[in-house]
Amino acid sequence: MALLELDGVTRRYGALVALDQVAMSVEEGEVRAVIGPNGAGKTTLFNVITGTVKPTAGTIRFAGHAIAGLPSHQICRLGVSRTFQITALFPEMSARDNARLAAQARHARRWLPFGGGHVFAEAEALADAALQQLGLTAIADRPAGLLSHGDQRLLEVAMAMAQQPRVLLLDEPTQGLSVEETAQAVETLARFLKASRMTVLLVEHDMEVVFRLADRITVLHRGGVIADGTPDQVKADARVQDAYLGGLE
Ligand SMILES: Nc1ncnc2c1ncn2[C@@H]1O[C@H](COP(=O)(O)OP(=O)(O)OP(=O)(O)O)[C@@H](O)[C@H]1O
Ligand SMILES: [Mg+2]
Repeated sequence: MALLELDGVTRRYGALVALDQVAMSVEEGEVRAVIGPNGAGKTTLFNVITGTVKPTAGTIRFAGHAIAGLPSHQICRLGVSRTFQITALFPEMSARDNARLAAQARHARRWLPFGGGHVFAEAEALADAALQQLGLTAIADRPAGLLSHGDQRLLEVAMAMAQQPRVLLLDEPTQGLSVEETAQAVETLARFLKASRMTVLLVEHDMEVVFRLADRITVLHRGGVIADGTPDQVKADARVQDAYLGGLE
């Protein structure tokens, strides 16, 4: 059975249909890219999966739970973690403390009544493991705001990983990076994905990055899924060429 399964997922904003009957199914261990032009509904899709926004209609099943409409902290606790399109770090805190706070956020309920040193130590161990997975151990003590843009984006991935998710949602992890920074970050991400075998949903505009990292691709256009398949299948799809890839070239 798929780890994550969406059916009929719709989100309206007044007359605008940001997501239109989206069905998709993601297997454990898969890296799924979600692509589509600006305004296609990619971030909205992440928002409804993570509970930031409630779907107007439809069902979302994750690891056997019906999660559509649950509050985001509950969805996070079930094992869904994300990064944001816009950087969301505490710039004055160290990379390690940013990752530690993320770890604590997932388990807030469990940990709050106990508090104390062992909680801190447990969260810090998760943070350090995640920083290592993203190749950030050497800069763990630096203030996040002083890291290179590429390392800041990787730190956001590490923060999500410190929550020990079963699925990781990455919203444009290379946005705002230069060509060189993108190449470096993609190298690190590729190594991390291979080693961790994480289940990932990846929104990304850079087609080279998509074709490098993704096992399968879902194409959104005006809120609806217009194609879904392997990179080669999607590349060859006439509707995708019309709606999207053709428009870029
Ligand atoms: N809170 C909101 N209120 C009203 N409309 C919204 C809201 N959030 C998103 N929309 C609209 O829904 C549509 C999909 O937006 P979304 O941000 O999901 O697109 P996207 O595919 O992530 O685009 P981009 O590539 O620019 O990040 C757009 O038309 C957008 O204006
Ligand atoms: Mg977006």
